[in-house]
Amino acid sequence: MPTAKQLVSQMTLEEKAGLCSGADFWRLKSIPRLGLYPVMMSDGPHGLRQQADEDDCLGIGDSVPSTCFPPACTMAASWDADLVRQVGQAIGEEAQTQGVSVVLGPGANLKRSPLCGRNFEYYSEDPYLSGKLAAAMIAGIQGQDAAACLKHFAANNQEYARLLVNATVDERALRELYLTAFEIAVREAQPRCVMSSYNRIGEITMSENKRLLTDILRKQWGFKGLVVSDWGAVRDRVAGVHAGLDLEMPSCGGVHDAEIAAAVRCGELPEAELDKCAVRVTQLITDSMKKQKKNAFYSRDAHHELARKAAAAGAVLLKNDGALPLKDKPSVAVVGLMAAQPRYQGAGSSKIHPTRIETPLDALRDSGLKISYAEGYDDGDTPVNSDKVREALTLARNKDVTVVFAGLPDSCESEGWDREHLQMPSGQNALIAALANACPNVVVVLQCGAPVTMPWLSKVNAVLLCYLGGQACGGAVLDLLTGKVNPSGKLPETFPLHESDAPCAKYFDDGLRSSEYRESLFVGYRYYNKTDAPVLFSFGHGLSYTQFTYGKLRMNKKFTPDAPFTVKVRVKNTGECFGEEVVQLYIAPKASRIMRTAAELKGFAKVALKPGAGKDVTFTLDERSFAYYNAEARRWATEGGDYVISVGGGSRDIRAEGVVSVAGDGLEKRVRATAKKVPAYFNLTAGGVEIPDEEFAALYAAPLPRRSRSRKQPFDTDTCLAEVQHLRRGRLMMRIAKKVVRKSYGRDEASAHLAQMALNSMMYVPVRSLSTMGGAIPAGVDRALVDFMNGHYLTAVKKALRAYRKR
Ligand code: BGC
Repeated sequence: MPTAKQLVSQMTLEEKAGLCSGADFWRLKSIPRLGLYPVMMSDGPHGLRQQADEDDCLGIGDSVPSTCFPPACTMAASWDADLVRQVGQAIGEEAQTQGVSVVLGPGANLKRSPLCGRNFEYYSEDPYLSGKLAAAMIAGIQGQDAAACLKHFAANNQEYARLLVNATVDERALRELYLTAFEIAVREAQPRCVMSSYNRIGEITMSENKRLLTDILRKQWGFKGLVVSDWGAVRDRVAGVHAGLDLEMPSCGGVHDAEIAAAVRCGELPEAELDKCAVRVTQLITDSMKKQKKNAFYSRDAHHELARKAAAAGAVLLKNDGALPLKDKPSVAVVGLMAAQPRYQGAGSSKIHPTRIETPLDALRDSGLKISYAEGYDDGDTPVNSDKVREALTLARNKDVTVVFAGLPDSCESEGWDREHLQMPSGQNALIAALANACPNVVVVLQCGAPVTMPWLSKVNAVLLCYLGGQACGGAVLDLLTGKVNPSGKLPETFPLHESDAPCAKYFDDGLRSSEYRESLFVGYRYYNKTDAPVLFSFGHGLSYTQFTYGKLRMNKKFTPDAPFTVKVRVKNTGECFGEEVVQLYIAPKASRIMRTAAELKGFAKVALKPGAGKDVTFTLDERSFAYYNAEARRWATEGGDYVISVGGGSRDIRAEGVVSVAGDGLEKRVRATAKKVPAYFNLTAGGVEIPDEEFAALYAAPLPRRSRSRKQPFDTDTCLAEVQHLRRGRLMMRIAKKVVRKSYGRDEASAHLAQMALNSMMYVPVRSLSTMGGAIPAGVDRALVDFMNGHYLTAVKKALRAYRKR
């Protein structure tokens, strides 16, 4: 087979330009005369969502059944990179079986706010943990010769206005937090593809952002694969080619292909730049064709078992006064609709059609335990149903144990919008409080993809957070409740007491066009631990049915970058049963002249120990473990001095400490953001971060982008419906758009939810993306819509008719 370069040299300009966008919603284009045949991409990330029907662009309900593994939020709570790799491998096997070449996942975006609607698809508030687990997932998928697509690059940390918003984030926070997760995944696992996100950084749309897509991703990190746009993220396709965006997805209906060809013809775009993209797309096609395994097969049973193991490993025992594990065959009242209708995955484009679902109620019933069941509350985000609470109380009062299943319904947590608060539905909170007041042993099993508040916490005996457990969640819950599996998950994020405590609370979702990351480096535990803020549960927290002790740290007193540096600690299981401990290593300088957060995670390991057994855990640290990003010098730098190394079972459960002296490079003297210039960052207190305008501007070191919600005429294809709502014609457009969306989705439950998602986010989708995102509006209509917004009705109608006729 000729090389990709040779193949591209045989292509016409139109063929090359054509390769730069998809053939349809999921496939790349083919050029049969050169032996290039269609390659298929499918969502991701926690299983495969392959579309059966080409016309149904999102078709969640209609996708080919595949194993629904626990989503990233749960996998992250396992802190088990090897397990994540195994799940990736299983997804890779399913991709091979279904003829899918590219799996659209994993997602490595950081959980900047606990309110982001899509947090369930991401790993952690910590970049090191996120990066390591994303790398493991990629290694698993690619080990099966399927391609992984790391997404959404970068700083896509909110759902609100995700296609418009500029992530206004200072360079240090960008590098140390938001990019680090991607950097680790790229450097360690070399994903075949990276997906550029919808948002803008430095006011440049990510699909045109040369600094990120080429200078940082390729030149600094050595990425060798293909960059694909998120679906409908392209604004100026020619600028995209120039920036290093190889492939636009989905199809642009030929519009952008023609623009690329024209730009090359008139000399605006050097053909060599187009060739680079065409070569990368061709390379992906030829690689995929070579790697597709004939007669691939996977065992549904084996993958279901793996999903069960993963769900159990990712559950976090938040509280336990001894009620768990269940002892002596108790009589158990199972309460809560979520026992029978579990929420086991997130809503939106990642929603998988599972091969089967094992509910907690069925698993408990089949276990031989004495079970009785009451629903307790209504479906969705509903207020208290007194009849159902009464029924539950009658059932539970005389039982040994009450296990309440509760959490967040789909409507509270989804791709497409963010949450407004951290509360669970009031009907569920009221039910738990009532049971806790009336019944002896109340165990709460939570199903949610992100933090919630727990007003009843002090009254219940145990809380087992299952996050979203995937299709085998039922069996996993049974294993955990009965002690067959000892809980070993730890929180990959902080659970705050209230949404207003979150460091970004004052700034999250604050602007349509600019989201100011004023909290800078102080995300999650980096802030809460710095200010000793009271939290509901801290980062890294998680209990076990056994106990562990830690020995002293064994390490050198001096760190030098050229010699390997290890930290050793002995961990022992001193309890009665087998258990696994997640050993965490954090680092902080003893003193610093620059802005520093609380101790940062720089290593973790999961150890399995029989009762009485001990093991040495070894961490290897390198220069980067101690480094900060020096924005002035534009490179990673090390501040000299003593650093405290803390090791333990949680960020607030430190069991051993040591001090190491590190030689620095003195570059911190050039840092401009000092205590004098940005005092607010050096005097943070609990209860949320508040940074004056001028201090954030000083830190950002560039003019702050505008945040306003209104736009002035003339409108362009980048305008969204929310920005023309003050006009009558804007409101009319919204009404029509709603009708179109409703008509283009199916009537089953999953499609109805998707329609809701589309409606919720439609206000904030720029006109240019309406056709590519939903597939309902033909390419070219965007220009008609712009004319309409500007009041040029006649030309608008003409352009729309032309676009529909062409379709
Ligand atoms: C999501 C991506 C997803 C793509 C295709 C987009 O809206 O942001 O994560 O892979 O759709 O479904």
